[in-house]
Amino acid sequence: MTPEELYEKLKNIRLGGAVCQYSLRKCAEYIPLINEINELKEAKNAVILAHSYISPEIIYGVSDFVGDSYKLSRDALSTKASTIVFVAVRFMGETAKILNPEKEVLIPAKEDGCTLADSITAQQVKELKGQYPDYTFICYINTSAQVKAQCDVTVTSANVYNVVKNFPNDKIYFLPDKFMGQNLKNYLEHQGIKKDIKFYSGTCYVHEEYGLDDILKVRLEYPDAKIVSHPECNSAIIEHSDFVGSTEQMLTYMKGTTSKQFLMLTECGLSARLQSEFPDKQLVGSCTMCKYMKSNTLEDILRALKNPSVHDRVILDEDTRLKALKTIEAMFRWA
Ligand code: 13P
Ligand code: SF4
Repeated sequence: MTPEELYEKLKNIRLGGAVCQYSLRKCAEYIPLINEINELKEAKNAVILAHSYISPEIIYGVSDFVGDSYKLSRDALSTKASTIVFVAVRFMGETAKILNPEKEVLIPAKEDGCTLADSITAQQVKELKGQYPDYTFICYINTSAQVKAQCDVTVTSANVYNVVKNFPNDKIYFLPDKFMGQNLKNYLEHQGIKKDIKFYSGTCYVHEEYGLDDILKVRLEYPDAKIVSHPECNSAIIEHSDFVGSTEQMLTYMKGTTSKQFLMLTECGLSARLQSEFPDKQLVGSCTMCKYMKSNTLEDILRALKNPSVHDRVILDEDTRLKALKTIEAMFRWA
């Protein structure tokens, strides 16, 4: 790859004024690292999966697959490579390992976390199951493999409504996101579907930043702007949105509409991707950053590929993996 080729992909990204912009000189600085990673990837029969929240120089410089957690879990299943470098957060890398026990899965992120995945432990799920024995336990993909292993079905933001709607039990315990749980409950009520939905108290620290004020301010200044939000946002936001969906569904929505202005209520990485891929559309308002996703750098990817540490490698005990796998297979069945 040449600096000019990379710059062509990154030149339209303008987040927070001058905070995140790419010059040809900056692109030239990235190129030696990018080319080394791409060569090593080929030599080691590795692929790089990157979530849409990841920094643009990674997405457009070295990734083979990009998308939301649902798409990436399908991509992880389809790849023939022997090593998967999952540039995202730990629970996404764990999902790839659950689906591909024979492959080496590496997570180069320095910050091991996600406020949702960290909000609940397997022991807490066990206790909840004791309190709600008749309920089907449905977990968001943003949970550890150990938590998944205690549940019945995994869902992602792309299929949570459909899975819960289709699942043949009217008593559902959803975890760990309280906003997504409330949004799910509201959605089913609006559809006239009677289900008893209980949910846990976790939140995503990036999406809980947004309030109705953000929408009202933008609507005053840009009355034609479409409000597009992620289901991890609170219910007031969801009610006032023109579209709600996973990060990949948000992108598909933008692609399919003739509207020109959008307020994207999600992490900045998606906004950067949209600016790169749809330069004729205007993003208004601001976005928020996830420190866990942004703790992945080109240097980390190179290090993990060259010489993976114990921290980089995903290792799961087989009993946990098999139990967690059942919940992901249930998702593929019910989505
Ligand atoms: P998506 O699956 O919609 O990309 O969401 C993942 C996530 O972590 C959102 O905060
Ligand atoms: Fe977790 Fe929120 Fe970051 Fe997504 S944006 S990985 S839910 S902390």
